Amino acid sequence: MTTLQALLEKAKAARLNAYAPYSHFLVGACLETNTGKAFSACNVENASYGLCLCAESNAISAMIAAGEKYVKQIVVVVAGPGVSTPCGACRQRLHEFSSPDLPIHVFDLQGASKTYTLTELLPNAFGPDDLI
Ligand code: THU
Repeated sequence: MTTLQALLEKAKAARLNAYAPYSHFLVGACLETNTGKAFSACNVENASYGLCLCAESNAISAMIAAGEKYVKQIVVVVAGPGVSTPCGACRQRLHEFSSPDLPIHVFDLQGASKTYTLTELLPNAFGPDDLI
């Protein structure tokens, strides 16, 4: 069991590695799987702006590459002041590998935080069950 504080520290550390020379908006994310493993990542931008990769999506990719499939909780940290929630694409990707009650903890560096569930941020989601 990883504590929320430990996930936050990992997300903050990953954020410092963000490659964001265009937006200057550094994002760190750290997710915990149902098996207790943590995967952190940052955003990675590109001169071809549409290719920018979000921190949350990169954390999901790291999880999948390691053979894990289920997100139990995720922390996202931005500089602030004020927290930011995952973008729509990241919400949809989280939906693929979690449940509607997935806790999404958002922080800024000043100590502000808020926790949402995935279903709050992505109500009536389309997902794998729709294809059965
Ligand atoms: N970004 C994320 O990493 N996660 C989000 O959920 C929102 C946006 C990144 C993408 C881009 O590098 C920068 O923040 C500005 O949009």
